[in-house]
Amino acid sequence: MNNPDMFQYREASHLSGTTDYIPDMDVSASSLKAYVITSPYARAKLVRCDLSRIKSAPGVQAVLTAEDIPGTNQMGIVASDEPCLMPTGTVCGYLGQAVCLIAARTLEMAKNAASLIEWEWEELDPVLTLKEAMDKKNFLFDPLILTRGNPAKAMQEAPFQAEGMLSTGGQEHVYFETQSAYAVPLCQGGLFIRSSTQNPTDNQRIVSQILSLPASMIEIEAGCLGGGFGGKQSQGSWTAAWASLLAWKTGKPVLMILDREQDMCLSGKRHPAEARWKVGFNKEGKILAYEVSMAFDCGWCEDVSSAVLHHCLFHADSAYFLPALSATMYACRTNKTSSTAFRGFGVPQAAAVIESAITAISRVLKKDPAVIRRKNYYGIKKNNTTPCNMTVEHNILRSAHSQVIKNSDYKKLRKETVEFNRKHAFTKRGLALVPVKFGISFNESFLNQAGALINVYKDGSVLLHHAGTEMGQGLHDKMRIVVHRELGVPLERIRVYNTTTSVIPNTTSTAASTGTDFGGAALKDACDKLKKRLSPFALELMGLKKGTLCWNNNQITCTETDQFISFISLVNHAYMVCESLSEKGFYTRKNIGFDLKTMEGRPYWYYVMGTSVACVELDLLTGTHRIMDVWIVHDCGKTIDRGIDLGQIHGAFMQGTGWCTLEQLITDNKGRLLTDSLDNYKIPGIYDIPDNYHIALYQGNPEPLNIQNSRAIGEPPLIYGLSVWLALQDARGTSLPIPATKEMLIKPMYNE
Ligand code: MTE
Ligand code: MOS
Repeated sequence: MNNPDMFQYREASHLSGTTDYIPDMDVSASSLKAYVITSPYARAKLVRCDLSRIKSAPGVQAVLTAEDIPGTNQMGIVASDEPCLMPTGTVCGYLGQAVCLIAARTLEMAKNAASLIEWEWEELDPVLTLKEAMDKKNFLFDPLILTRGNPAKAMQEAPFQAEGMLSTGGQEHVYFETQSAYAVPLCQGGLFIRSSTQNPTDNQRIVSQILSLPASMIEIEAGCLGGGFGGKQSQGSWTAAWASLLAWKTGKPVLMILDREQDMCLSGKRHPAEARWKVGFNKEGKILAYEVSMAFDCGWCEDVSSAVLHHCLFHADSAYFLPALSATMYACRTNKTSSTAFRGFGVPQAAAVIESAITAISRVLKKDPAVIRRKNYYGIKKNNTTPCNMTVEHNILRSAHSQVIKNSDYKKLRKETVEFNRKHAFTKRGLALVPVKFGISFNESFLNQAGALINVYKDGSVLLHHAGTEMGQGLHDKMRIVVHRELGVPLERIRVYNTTTSVIPNTTSTAASTGTDFGGAALKDACDKLKKRLSPFALELMGLKKGTLCWNNNQITCTETDQFISFISLVNHAYMVCESLSEKGFYTRKNIGFDLKTMEGRPYWYYVMGTSVACVELDLLTGTHRIMDVWIVHDCGKTIDRGIDLGQIHGAFMQGTGWCTLEQLITDNKGRLLTDSLDNYKIPGIYDIPDNYHIALYQGNPEPLNIQNSRAIGEPPLIYGLSVWLALQDARGTSLPIPATKEMLIKPMYNE
């Protein structure tokens, strides 16, 4: 405790293990612990529910059901199809749906009490497979369709055709802090809730609607999250809502932390999908027509599925110019957890399908798939518009491709691979290249907004507030860097406050990789306004009437005269003459949006691009493989922090690789998730990372439309994980599903 460094700004606190998550909080002794009782069936009617034995169990302070909710029993993020607690007499949507809440002195007491529930259910047949949902047309909303040209005609006229199917699995987020919240009643009324959420404002909206209290009475604060990965975009509001209800009922602080198993069973995952595709092409391998239909397992309710499917639809092309396209996305309702946001948000599925089509072309034409890929990239001057007629600007696809080919010495590597495979009967090597083109922004135009606030203290130190949540992606540090560059204040004197609805209201979820874009731009706006107000004082202090000011090195310098004053003297002076040292900023993206009728518009602000090559070695007898090398050339524009960007690329690549090769969700025929812990759900570990990483940031392509000419980083590099999956297909010479697990890799054939 006596370590003086403890009170300095802690750089890299995530890495050093000093970040406090909700389970690390020093909660008050009177705090109660919460537990949620959930439905034991995937689809069943709750006929009777008797809580009397729970109520009299030791340590129990409150038991709540749907009937006790003072406001609206609803926590759907977009549609109103998700009750906070399911009422008696209704039918549950999946095995794990919340029925009843308990607050007790200890978690053990709450769990013991939960076992005393007496209820009666009428079991109904659940829909658990995509096939059944498709057959029954069990859809959450109408299929989404995007077409360009006349795909049927173009397909018929194409000299060559290939077709296939692809199944891609779900993925569990495995954030290391499970869903948690701590709700504290406030003496002036209302509640303070510390919540592990990417989306404080929607937490606030949901808690206020459930408790029938104005939003101003509900404060949601997010500290650093122990990971989100999309899993805390919408579903982070559940624990906030449940803890709040119990705190409201008992008048005491309530801590709710889902244990890992419950978190895995209750919460949604990446959307599993099944795709059928057909591609028409010429003898050079140029795509002339592409038809794709994808069925998504959205689970029991809508959540953010509509947005995920739109994002997938707009990425049906991935990096390729498609002269004729027909894409259809089906939102299937099944009796499973509600699939939700997961890093990539529908894009990985879309990319996997079109990359399968390209691989098929290369097999027909007996050419290296990398050659076919290059042939089909979006062009710079022509063939540069997407199926919704958005121009692809600052396109570096071909150039990044050439760089990664050079960096990996691809041709030599290909030769060596062929040679190796000739000599080895049971060990095969494979090689694959994958491009990424990933659109940044929310398709829903009003979501593209953000506020910020900066407070400068008299000693010249700075406290920032912005709309984004820190979940390990390094957002807070990037925000400090942005302000450091704008105001010239040293980094160690700039701190970021926890994200709270009380300071920055009406925020958008930290999602779609826009955290830095939005927060950075809003903070820059605040800095610009502050500098504009303080500049006349700076000139005055230097005895100047006019001059160009440069804010750097904790001082303000007149570039014409080289005179300067320190930032601290400037803010002191401003204070003495009663000039405010706070400034708020705001940012919005205008002219963004999409017409659902014409399917035209600008769904994205800009695209993030890059390329990767992976080289793998597969043991055909055991199905085990190792990633020998991966090369990535990725474009972050003018990077705000190289270390953070590289970290995101490493992490996203591994997470993508996990989805493609290891992580398999298994549900039994009753709808029970069998893979409910890290014992039976395999995520990448230390032995799964590549032997060698060769990651380069693309140079010389600043993004004029974004903060300090950077590009978003959070999600796009996840697509590079596909290069491992494609390299495994290359090694075997067969197609593979996602995940291509060891079991799949030792099977003689799949899908052929
Ligand atoms: N990196 C870490 N370490 N932890 C996370 O939870 N989430 C990812 C990505 N990188 C995540 C992460 C997802 S899904 C998104 S949308 C972005 O970070 C969100 O943050 P950003 O917008 O600030 O990039
Ligand atoms: Mo990320 S899936 O947009 O939270």
